Parts: sequence; structure tokens; C-alpha cells
Amino acid sequence: MSDKISYTRNGDIAVLRIQNPPVNALSLAVREGLVAGIEKAESDEGVQAVVIVGEGRAFIAGADITEFGKPPQEPFLPDVCKRIEASSRIIVASMHGVSLGGGLEIALCAHYRIAQPSARVGLPEVHLGLIPGAGATQRLPRLIGVDASLDLITSGRQVKADEALKMGIIDKIVEGDPAEVGIAYAKALLSDGAKRRAVSEMTPPEPIDWDAAYDGALKKARGQISPAQAVRAVQASVELDFDDGMLAEREMFMDLMKTDQRQGMIHAFFSERAVGNLPELKDVEPRALKSIGVIGGGTMGAGIATAALLSGFSVVLIEMKDEFVAAAHDRISGNLSGALKRGKISQDKFDELTTKALTVTTQYDALSDVDLVVEAVFEDMAVKKDVFTKLDAVCKPGAILASNTSYLDVDEIAASTLRPEDVIGLHFFSPAHVMKLLEVVVADKTAPDVVATGFALGKALGKISVRAGVCDGFIGNRILATYRTAADHMVLDGASPYQIDKALVNFGFAMGPFAVGDLAGLDIGWATRKRKAPHRHPAERVPTYVDKICEAGNFGQKTGKGYYIYEKGTRGGIPNPEVTELIKAERAERGITPRDFTDAEIVRRYMAAMVNEAAKVVGEGIAKRPLDVDMVLLFGYGFPRYWGGPMKWADLQGLAELLADIESYADENAWFWQPAPLLKQLVAEGRTFDDLNKEAAK
Ligand code: CAA
Repeated sequence: MSDKISYTRNGDIAVLRIQNPPVNALSLAVREGLVAGIEKAESDEGVQAVVIVGEGRAFIAGADITEFGKPPQEPFLPDVCKRIEASSRIIVASMHGVSLGGGLEIALCAHYRIAQPSARVGLPEVHLGLIPGAGATQRLPRLIGVDASLDLITSGRQVKADEALKMGIIDKIVEGDPAEVGIAYAKALLSDGAKRRAVSEMTPPEPIDWDAAYDGALKKARGQISPAQAVRAVQASVELDFDDGMLAEREMFMDLMKTDQRQGMIHAFFSERAVGNLPELKDVEPRALKSIGVIGGGTMGAGIATAALLSGFSVVLIEMKDEFVAAAHDRISGNLSGALKRGKISQDKFDELTTKALTVTTQYDALSDVDLVVEAVFEDMAVKKDVFTKLDAVCKPGAILASNTSYLDVDEIAASTLRPEDVIGLHFFSPAHVMKLLEVVVADKTAPDVVATGFALGKALGKISVRAGVCDGFIGNRILATYRTAADHMVLDGASPYQIDKALVNFGFAMGPFAVGDLAGLDIGWATRKRKAPHRHPAERVPTYVDKICEAGNFGQKTGKGYYIYEKGTRGGIPNPEVTELIKAERAERGITPRDFTDAEIVRRYMAAMVNEAAKVVGEGIAKRPLDVDMVLLFGYGFPRYWGGPMKWADLQGLAELLADIESYADENAWFWQPAPLLKQLVAEGRTFDDLNKEAAK
């Protein structure tokens, strides 16, 4: 038998214990061991029932994702499941921790299922660009009906044991050692004379309006195909007999396995876990963190304070003036009341967080004991330096001084203190208690344990933290500035902001760049353009029509008008005809004859600009690895997860073709479209961005 499965006897019960840490993924050895274990139990005299149980923290977290993309090896998981279900002995799955994907599919082949109260089950395959591939689309509908099955399979959500019991996925919840609980249940079943019970032999459920369900899943997933495909697989469970349904599921599963979306989503899965793994921090202990200071109680400062409070830190927030203190407190309470309403915290917890754990004051002295302080004041170097001088004077030795600046030079900020080694950038994204991304900006003199503490804070706050070097805009905003410029150029040359937004939403972005501008406030970009104007290179093409929108007092959603017009009570906006007129006038002034753009060309240019700048960011060491850029765009900028990130997207498209396009765009505008040296190098060497990720992991 495989060393991944242990076989023991307890009277007339055999126990198969899966031992494949950390999460008992169904690797080849586990699959072989399960089949061998069932066979052994059947030939082992006196065995009446078999309990399958997982060792360590989970029952089974699913198929072994590291095997995806490689040639599948027998026994295949559907056959393992079938073998378990077909056993002449009574099979009991005793589940603890998670039972996900193939793990739940194994459990669905057991004849009875018992779980710990803390257990969770789910079919997360859609998050990997797949559908369940070992019978869940056929068995689950027979067990719990079509609607509940579609809910679980198309959302990929995990349900806790009590909900799973109500749905009928599990039979019983009992707390205790999973093996002991399973054995006791098996004994009780035997003494009650219980029989084998195969889900595949249950009656198929009633049909629904499949096309409507398919369209609904497609729309909800915004371009991701696997949830809609799951509807078709469940449809097969109703329309075909069980064996044919299984074949249909397998075919759809294998087809999805070949897609770029599957590759993109699995890249996202592993990158999310690799992003905080930095070789230089391997043996570095972070500093202790209990209390956090925040400077500035605006939207950003209040969001950071909220995130810190919700993660168990005490918070001291400094406002500039007495009259701002109450408003800052209210802003944080407002955020926390959202968490209260969603059931994330209790009323008692809310009361504690808004009183005992939070201090809002104008007195910098209150920061004398905090472990780390983040300033979130106005983006102006002089203002920031003034704040850091004050922090340097009041904060205890060893306290970390962090700036939430989005583009200012953290080295220069650090130099305004006597402890530059304790200074770091912690760039949160607004609203900071909601957005998952945190850029940890490492300045020249930042000490390694300060960087480690930045990552430790990110982890405590539930963020995806990405290391970034110092440059204008760090990773995300620097790349954004470039692809946004590509969009602006297309508007000057003939595309409308509305066509561009639509093409990019169809590509999978949550919003297009012009709708994002309206949401963020057009005054922000206006201020940046004014700041940059004196140093602008004469070859830069910067449209002026947007300034005219701002000069008229229209800043986007907050004023009801920007690129779009926002009517009260309606979601989204309608195109603003004044913008179209202003664009026309500017084209005429510049002597541009507008041309048509296809949606495909819009996406190609936008993505080419993004990837080219991202390659510069990696080449210059601002981001250490391509996957760091991917995670920034995914978690901070609404990039579609199913493409894995812009670098993964570029690999999937082919870097040579992308470089050729960039070089052809350079014929029109050589200043803007300067190919990234790293991109040229990779193409010359026939390598990909993912090769760089792999080299960094060695
Ligand atoms: N295969 C291979 N490795 C896996 C894995 C899997 N299914 N699930 C987790 N791991 C690895 C992780 O990559 C990580 O490795 P490193 O320590 O080297 O980074 C390690 O296990 C621990 O994982 P986490 O850091 O994520 O630990 P966690 O406690 O936060 O979460 C988890 C545990 C809930 C199981 C989470 O890892 C998870 O959601 N895993 C994916 C589950 C999944 O998608 N299963 C379905 C697989 S597809 C399938 O089963 C198809 C089918 O029907 C045939």
C-alpha cells in the first residue's frame, strides 16, 4: 500500500487514514492508496465497514493542483470515487477541516458522511477555471437537488457543517477525534442494520430552465466560462443516465483543463501564496506589533484604522484640528457598523472597538507607545516631512514610521528623520478596510526587520502584501499611469471613452478606466497633471479636454457629472454628450482625423502598454518578480482573475507577438512605445515571465 494511506483495524471496522500533508491533496500516491485500501478491506476477513479519515488539518483539500497540466496518471479520480462507492462494505467519510473539490467528491462516494462542527465543504473548482471532475456535478444534484447544487458549484463557496447538514450533504455532526467519531458512527450503522447507500443510484432531480441558468452564470462571472459550463454539467445529471453524465462531466472538465483561463486562475492561486515569500526575509523576525498609530482621519486614514481595529490592534488616530476629531471617529464607527450589520462583529465587540480600542486626538504625544504608525495625510512632500519630523520626536525607539504615500519618494521622507532604517512605505488602497492590496515600499535604508514587520502587518490585516521599490507610483500606480495614457491616446485618435470602457469590461475588468476616473474623482488626475506639467517632455501627448470638464466643477460621481452623467437613484452613468463635443473640438484643434478602433485593438493596445511598463518595473527591480505585478493588478486594480494578471496574460498571448505589436505602435509614437529592455531580452532568449517567477522560487 502507498505510504500516504495507513490501514488499521478496529474490530469489524477498517480505518483508511490519509497522510499527505499539508492538506491531504489527492496526489497519485493517495489515489493509489485509497483503491488499495478499499481492496484490502474487502479481502480482510470480518471487515464490515470502512472509515475514511484525513490526518492533520483537513479531510482532503481536493485534487493535487500541482499535477494539473501534466499528463494524468491512473487511477484517475473519477475511477477512485467509483471504486469507493461500489464497495460491498459500508463506507463512512469522517470529515474535519476542509473537504474541497475532489475531497468532497470522495466523501460523496462514501455511503454515509459525518463531520466535525468546524468542518467546511465546498466545490471551489470554478476558482481554478474548472468544474468538479470526479462526479460532483452528477452526484450532488441527486443528493441535494439542482438549485442548491448550482449555488455551490457555480459560486465555489464553502459551507460550514451546520449548513451542509441542512442541505443534506452530510448526515451527522459529532465533535471529537475524527477517526473515533467515524468508528462510532460506523458501529452504530452496523448495529442498526444500515445498508450501502450509493448516491449515484438515487433518482435524478427535476429539470429547470437550463438556458436561463447558463446565461445567468455567464453574466455573473463576467467572462469566466467555467461557472456556465458547470450548469451544462448539472444539466447532464438530469438528462442522461449516471454513467453517460459522468462521461459528459469528464469531457467538459478536460476541455476546461486546456483553457488559458484555467492556467490563469491556477497561476493566481499559487502566486497569491508565493507573493509574501521573500528569500531575503527568510530568517528575519518581525518586530512586535500591538498598537498602531494613524495620522489623518480622512477616508484613507479611517479605513486603515478600521482594518487595524478589526484585526485586533489598538489604534491611536491623530487629527489635525479639534473640530475634525468627531468626524474622524464617526467615519471609523460608520465603517465598523458595516461589519456589525454583516454579522462580522458583535454589538459588544463594536462597543469595545469604538471606545476602548480606539483613541482619536490631536495630540502627537499619544503616539509615544505605539509600535507602528502610518501617516495618511495630504500628498505633499512638505506636509509629509513635517509629519515625519513630529513622529521622529514622539515615537519610541524601534517604532516603525510608515507613509501611505501613493507616489512620493519614500527615501526623501525617510531622510527627514533621524531613523531612516525604521521608515517604510505602506501603500493601502481605498477603502483600506475593504481592498486586499498592500504595497510594502522598501526604501534604500529600510531595515530588513521593518520590511518583515510590514508583511506581518499585511498578513494580520488579511491583505495580499507585495514588495515594491521606490519610484513614482511604485508598482501599481506607475503601471496605471501608462495604460491610462494609452487609453487617452486612443481617445485623441478616434475611440470614445465609452467604447474603451465597454471593450475593457468585456475583457473582464471590473470597470473601464474612464468610469474608474469618475469614481476616484477627476480632480485627482487634474492635480497630478498640473503637478507634472512643468517637467513634461514635449513629446508627451496629454489631452486637455478633461481639464475643461474639471474647470466646470465636474469631478465625476461625487458631483454627479464627469465622463458620465449620474442620475440620482440609478446605478452607473450615461455618457456625457458634453465630453464627446469637447473631444471633437480637441481633435480638430490638434489636426487629428479620427479613425475607427475595433474593440480588439483597444484591448491589445491597452494591455500592451500595461505589460510593457510592467516589464520595465520588473527590469528595474521595482517589482522583484512578474508575479508581484500580477498580484498588484489583480488585488488593487480590478484585473480579471481568470487571466492570472497582465504578465501571465502576456505569456499566454506570446511575448514575441506582443513585442512586435509594441514595435509597430512605436512607428506612430516612438516616445510612448519604447519597448522594455526585459521584454526584448525574454523574446530574444525564448523565455517567459513565468520562467522568471520559477527562477526566483529556486
Ligand atoms: N493541491 C496542491 N497543493 C495544495 C492544494 C491542492 N489542492 N491546496 C493547498 N495546497 C498547498 C498550498 O499551495 C500551500 O502550499 P505552500 O505551503 O507550499 O505554499 C499549502 O498547501 C497550504 O495551503 P494554504 O497556504 O492555502 O493554507 P490554508 O490553511 O490557508 O488553506 C485550503 C488551506 C483551504 C485547503 C486552501 O489551500 C485551498 O483552498 N486550497 C485549494 C482547494 C481547491 O481548490 N481544491 C479543489 C482542487 S480541484 C479538484 O479537486 C478538481 C477535481 O474535482 C478533480
